[in-house]
Amino acid sequence: MGKYRDGSNDWVRIFDTTLRDGEQSPGCTMNVDEKLAVARQLEALGVDVIEAGFAAASPGDLESVKAVARAVDGPVVLSLARTREADIETALRAVDGAKSPGIHVFIATSDIHLRYKLGMSRQEVIDAAAWAVERASRYVDYIEFSAEDASRSDTDYLCQVFGEVIRAGARVCNVPDTTGYGVPDKIRQMFETLRARTESADQVIWSTHCHNDLGLAVANSLAAVEGGARQVECTINGIGERAGNTALEEVVMALNTRYDHFVINTRVNAKQIYLASQTLSKMIGMTIAPTKPIVGANAFAHEAGIHQDGVLKNVRTYEIMRPEDVGRISNTLVLGKHSGRHAFSKALRELGFDPRVINFSDAFTRFKLLADKKGQIFSEDLIVVAIGDESDASQRFVLEDVRVVASLHGDPEVAVTISIDGKSQSATATGDGLIDACYEAIKKSTYVYSVLEGYQAKGLTGGTDALGEVSVLIRTGEIAVRGRGNHTDVVMASALAYVDAINRLELVRLVTTKNRRSNDPVP
Ligand code: KIV
Ligand code: ZN
Repeated sequence: MGKYRDGSNDWVRIFDTTLRDGEQSPGCTMNVDEKLAVARQLEALGVDVIEAGFAAASPGDLESVKAVARAVDGPVVLSLARTREADIETALRAVDGAKSPGIHVFIATSDIHLRYKLGMSRQEVIDAAAWAVERASRYVDYIEFSAEDASRSDTDYLCQVFGEVIRAGARVCNVPDTTGYGVPDKIRQMFETLRARTESADQVIWSTHCHNDLGLAVANSLAAVEGGARQVECTINGIGERAGNTALEEVVMALNTRYDHFVINTRVNAKQIYLASQTLSKMIGMTIAPTKPIVGANAFAHEAGIHQDGVLKNVRTYEIMRPEDVGRISNTLVLGKHSGRHAFSKALRELGFDPRVINFSDAFTRFKLLADKKGQIFSEDLIVVAIGDESDASQRFVLEDVRVVASLHGDPEVAVTISIDGKSQSATATGDGLIDACYEAIKKSTYVYSVLEGYQAKGLTGGTDALGEVSVLIRTGEIAVRGRGNHTDVVMASALAYVDAINRLELVRLVTTKNRRSNDPVP
C-alpha cells in the first residue's frame, strides 16, 4: 500500500506546487533545467507530493512534467488536469515515467464560477468531476480531486461533489481557497463539516490549498489542519498568482515550532528549507523581502539593543527557532583560491547541499573561476556557485562581451556583443549611467524593446570584490519576466540579468503565442 493510503492521519503531507501554481505567476517562468533543479531540491527537502505542472497547457509544460517525473524518486509526481479527456490523457503521458505517478483533476464548484465561467449546472459539474476521476483511476492509483473556489461554494453541494469523486476513486480531496477569501474560523469549520457530512470521508486525505490575497494563507492552512486537513498545498517562498500561495517554509516551521499546540508535524527535513528558498529565488531572479519569515535576510537578525542584550544572555529570550534549524548559516569564510575538490565538497555538505541536487564538476569549475577572481570564498558565495545558472543551453541570446567607458565629465558609453542564434551582434549606446547605457546597447543589438519595471542589486558578501547579484523585471505588453545575473562587477551582473530576462521573454512568448490554447480557462 502506498504511503497515501496507509490509513494513518498522523502527519501533515506537504504538497508542493511551486512548479505549477507558483510558476504560472508573472515573472516566475522557469526553463526545464531550472524546474529540475527545483524539483531535486524539493526531493531533498522531503516533500510528499510535487505538482510538476499542467501538462495540457502547452508542449513545453508537458516536457517539463515528464522530465521532473523521471528525475524524482521519493515524492509522488502529479500533473494538473481539467475534467477533459485530452487533459487527462496528456497528464497520464506526462507522469508515466514517475516512480509514484498521480493526476490532479479539478473543476470549479462555486455558483459564480458555474454560471459565468463554465456555463454548467451543478449536476453537470458533478458528472464531469466523477467522470474524470473514474477515467483517470483506470490508469493511475493516486488521484487528487480539487473543487476550485471551494471556500465560496455551497457546503451541502461540496459534500455531494466530494462524495461522488470519492466513489469514483479519488484518494485526496482538496478544498481550495482559490481567491484568498477565507478566514481561519470559517476554513476550520468547513473542514469539520466536510469530514462529518461527506460520504466515505474517512477513506481520503483532506487537503487545503490557500491563496494569500488577504495575507491569511498560512493562518488558513493551519486552521484547516485543526479542522482535520492532513495535506497542505504550498509553494517555496509563497510564490504564486497575485499575492501568492501558502508559504511552505512558514507552515512547516509553524507546525514544527508549535508542536505543543498542533500536536502534528510534517515529514519535511527543515534543515533544507534555506537552500530550497535560495535555489528558487536564484532560479526565478526574485529577491526575498528581508522581513519574510524564516527565509528573509532579517528573519533572525536582532538589531535593537535590548534584544541584543537578551539574546547574548540567553538566545531563547527572543528567538523561538534557531537559524540552523532551517539550514541557515552565518556568512563565514569557508574556502580560498587554493582549496581543492575535497575541501569544496566538504564545505558544500556542511552547507546542507545534497550531492544529488547539484552538478558537482560544473559547480567546482564555477568555484575555481570565482576563487581566482576574489581569493576568499564565503558561504553565501558558495551557495551561488553551487546552485549555478541553470540557463538553457539552447537559449537564443548569449552575452559575449561588455566594454565600458566612464568619465566624470560626460555620458558613459557601453558596447555589448551578443550572440543571437549563434551570430554575433554588437551595438554601442550612451545613457544616464553605465547600467542605463548598457541596457540601451542590449536593446539596440537584440531589437528586443522592453520596459524595465524592476532592478535590484545586492552584494552577497562584504568587500569591494564581493559577488554581486542583480535581478531585473522587464515587461513587453502583457508579459513580465524576471532575470538574474551574478558577477563580481555590477555592470556585468546587470547585463547578464537583462540577457537572462530576454531569454525568458522568448520562452514565454513561444509558450503563449504558439502553444497555449487561448480560449481555454487555466487555473
Ligand atoms: O487555486 C486553486 O483553486 C487551484 C486549483 C487548481 C487547485 O490552484
Ligand atoms: Zn491555486
